[in-house]
Amino acid sequence: MTQSPQIIVLDTGGQYCHLIARKIREFGVYAEVRPSETPASQLAGARGLIISGGPSSVYEPGSPTVDPAIFELNAATLGICYGQQLMAYLLGGNVKRGEKGEYGLAFLDVATPQTLLDGVNGRQQVWMSHRDTVLAVPPGFTALGSTSTCAIAAMADPSRKLYAVQFHPEVVHTHPGKQILHNFLFTICGCVQDWDPSRRIPVVEEQIRQTAAGRKVFFFVSGGVDSTVAYTLCLRALDPDHVHGAYVDTGMMRENETEFVRANFSKLGAKHFTVVDARQEFLAALEGVTDPEKKRQAIGEQFVAVQDRILQSGHYLDADWILGQGTIYPDTIESGGTTKADKIKTHHNRVEGIQRLIDAGRILEPLSSFYKDEVREIGRELGIDEELLERHPFPGPGLAIRCLCGDDSAATKQIGEGYLLPVHSVGVQGDSRTYRPALALDAMPPGEHAATELINRIAGINRVVAAVASHAPLASLRSVPAYITEERLAHLRRVDAIVRRLSHQSGFDKTIWQFPVVVIPVGVEGRPDSVVLRPVDSVDGMTAQAVIMPAGLLKQMTEELLRVEGICAVFYDLTHKPPATIEWE
Ligand code: XMP
Repeated sequence: MTQSPQIIVLDTGGQYCHLIARKIREFGVYAEVRPSETPASQLAGARGLIISGGPSSVYEPGSPTVDPAIFELNAATLGICYGQQLMAYLLGGNVKRGEKGEYGLAFLDVATPQTLLDGVNGRQQVWMSHRDTVLAVPPGFTALGSTSTCAIAAMADPSRKLYAVQFHPEVVHTHPGKQILHNFLFTICGCVQDWDPSRRIPVVEEQIRQTAAGRKVFFFVSGGVDSTVAYTLCLRALDPDHVHGAYVDTGMMRENETEFVRANFSKLGAKHFTVVDARQEFLAALEGVTDPEKKRQAIGEQFVAVQDRILQSGHYLDADWILGQGTIYPDTIESGGTTKADKIKTHHNRVEGIQRLIDAGRILEPLSSFYKDEVREIGRELGIDEELLERHPFPGPGLAIRCLCGDDSAATKQIGEGYLLPVHSVGVQGDSRTYRPALALDAMPPGEHAATELINRIAGINRVVAAVASHAPLASLRSVPAYITEERLAHLRRVDAIVRRLSHQSGFDKTIWQFPVVVIPVGVEGRPDSVVLRPVDSVDGMTAQAVIMPAGLLKQMTEELLRVEGICAVFYDLTHKPPATIEWE
């Protein structure tokens, strides 16, 4: 019943491997991701293999590799970026170490518009992100195209069905990317269309019945897309009396969120869905805490305590229960990469009881082979509201990481370029965490690269914001000691609701990936807090671009925000990730 992939993406540790698999599935071809070093014998059934891009150099000791026997399989192979370098290195070509690298747009001059590049003619825009380059192709290969800095931007040995490109065909900035992937899938590998997520619903329901095997299922639901779709599938597959769920109201949720979740679950036909009110406990756990990591820890511990209590009191750990989760495909993959990313922020905490259930295999994850867009498609087919399906991602710790805290009373400090705000926020530079002040500019700067340039130039900052409007001059703003309190959360909920309403009405929310609204303890007496708008575009939250909204919308939003009690100024976060993170914490 589980489907065999026609294409297997071998993950060499890059952020792109899931993007590749997702793009292939969009062509209706089932693809899966596996660690790069998977033995060739376990890949034999696939029609095609793709070696993904990754951050390493083939010369680094311990860098990811592939089983060389894969090149002898009947499957066609496509190397992308690091994948091309690895192919060249393993098959007898020459790879040059790069010091600086090439990042961004480049122009591919196509020498051979055939096979992989069939229909790709002349000069084409592509996206590059690499340090090392292939200097000489391996025996049997020919170069298919070049760019001004990369003589071998694509290469092939069609007799052995081996192909490679230095650029990234899976990203939208590579204009002929779709054509190239299409050529590889259908002409070279001979794939057939075999994948349509919404048609998988009966299969998933059957899997749920088999895994449950007569037991009842319990979910902790967040109200987000994944847990809602997973829960709904269980309601359909099993006796609804056997599907229970709890939603923990932490008090860190957005305006009307609890009511929204309750209404949704009732509409979906949930019979045993409870809202657990833990608002006071979470507030108490956060009392007096200012450091972002300590806030996360306090929230994590509180979650564990509340979840444990629910599991115990409902007897959900007994043998006749299993735990349902909304885990999706990218959450399940063991990466083939060898370097572990530095801990930027603490994300997950695990209840001991949940860990026991996982260890014992008493866990049901109906969505574990789907990507987010596929989960949405399934949700649509199940009749779940579009409003829920199209929601932006919302972090587990909720508004607590958007309500900035601090112990200091300090003034803003004028420097040549603007004002240093007397608060710290989290950032990520060179794969490490930073915790630094932000620079506030007097007004929106022209061009989208101002923030990056300023952060490279001015030591000790990790963010740049522009002051959009203020009740008081920037020079007069001060920070005050601030914690998570009911009052500050109420203000944050209010401003967040205004931003959500206006960006929805104007359609701006459809053009971005996420829109955090942050309250920072910077202001004047009587108006001690200010708002930061943080709309970003992203694929998966790992990297993100600040997005500038239309001026008319910003003006309308700002006017409303400045009318909210306690709010002094409105700032606009101009910083990409890296060097800043999306959340301020
Ligand atoms: P950062 O701030 O690290 O955020 O750039 C990246 C993305 O992750 C979300 N986020 C979380 N999601 N639990 C979650 O489920 C968390 O603890 C958490 N922390 C951050 C954040 O909203 C952004 O989309």
